[in-house]
Amino acid sequence: MSTNWLNESIATATEVFHRRHGRPPKWIVAAPGRVNLIGEHIDYSDGFVLPMAIDRYCVLAAGDCPLFSSPDVAIVDGAIREKGTVPLASIYSTATNDEVSIPLASPPRHATPGHWSNYFAGVIAACGQRGLRPPGFIAVAESSVPVGGGLSSSAAIEVATATLIEAMTGATLEPVEKALLCQWAEHNYAGMPCGIMDQFASTMCRADHLMLLDCRSRHVEHIPLVDPNITVLIINTNVKHELTGSEYADRRGQCESATRKLGARSPRDLTPIELETNKAKLTSTEYRRVRHAVTEIARTVEAANAIKAGDWPAVGQLMVASHESLRDDYEVSCHELDLLVDMAQKIGPDGGVSGSRMTGGGFGGCTVSLVETARVNAVADSIAKSYHAETGIAPTIITSRPARGAHIVKSDSR
Ligand code: GLA
Repeated sequence: MSTNWLNESIATATEVFHRRHGRPPKWIVAAPGRVNLIGEHIDYSDGFVLPMAIDRYCVLAAGDCPLFSSPDVAIVDGAIREKGTVPLASIYSTATNDEVSIPLASPPRHATPGHWSNYFAGVIAACGQRGLRPPGFIAVAESSVPVGGGLSSSAAIEVATATLIEAMTGATLEPVEKALLCQWAEHNYAGMPCGIMDQFASTMCRADHLMLLDCRSRHVEHIPLVDPNITVLIINTNVKHELTGSEYADRRGQCESATRKLGARSPRDLTPIELETNKAKLTSTEYRRVRHAVTEIARTVEAANAIKAGDWPAVGQLMVASHESLRDDYEVSCHELDLLVDMAQKIGPDGGVSGSRMTGGGFGGCTVSLVETARVNAVADSIAKSYHAETGIAPTIITSRPARGAHIVKSDSR
């Protein structure tokens, strides 16, 4: 029987909360990771993306705890509080087995860049700026979204935190505002200049649907993906190659400077012909970056139409073209991702694989493939064996139906 990851994470978070605090949690919330079928590295170029939520969630179990003793902080909201008592959020991570206490009124960034608590602190700060101030609380975080796999484990934490604050305060954020404040947290607390896809997906995705997001207008269209013969297969290379940490920002910057040179607001406003005509204005790197964006925007719109028509061979071809463009023009793939995609392509439609590509930011992480359901186990086994033989690394296999977006699981105050 397959694992129900959401229920498992809820059970673990509840049990750990009970063990640590001697009472059941008052609030439980969940926010999923996502996989993007097509539309990669174009959310920050006003493009279209087509992700779905996966059945892997960040679950937060929480209880109130109005005042904590914190000898270090005595000024809250500019006023001197009784020294030693300020409202804090105290969050324990089951993954790292450590607890962080964040003053709710002025959440600082963690001293260690990249620390998991920055996602919480950033969202608490962003909510505070909108007047959403929860009481002091204690929480346990348990996540089944793999970290570093390009499946948005960080967006899942952010959106779970915003959902928890909604549950605790009784307020409901507009979904767009909620996603944007989580993106703000990622930019300002985690230092990652991401686009809007991951936070929108974790907030708004629906079970059994892909989410076609127009990143310019922020319009969302939910496209059913209910064909029982098609399974979304995710394979994690289990490698991460980002060398400087600035690869993502570099790509984004190159795309922006190139479109400026072309006098366009974004690649969304350029046709392939305009790009070709003005090629001489760009360096060869800039040209390839924009070519990826322009062609990927067109592919994503086409893929959404092909999915609506149930034309899986066409979707598969677009996914392969997307991978090639990310590999050659955008240069965000890596040897291991290319290997997995090649292996899937060799199996091809005759062996049950419609198409395959890297997904997420790249430089490692996962591939996503559309596979005939009856053959998905055989396909996954065969690719896993070949990949292991070639690299010495065991990949991780995930299959998921399009899952439900962020939601409140339990709220005693409702
Ligand atoms: C990361 C970012 C997203 C998006 C993808 C690439 O996941 O957080 O905003 O740019 O990379 O498509």
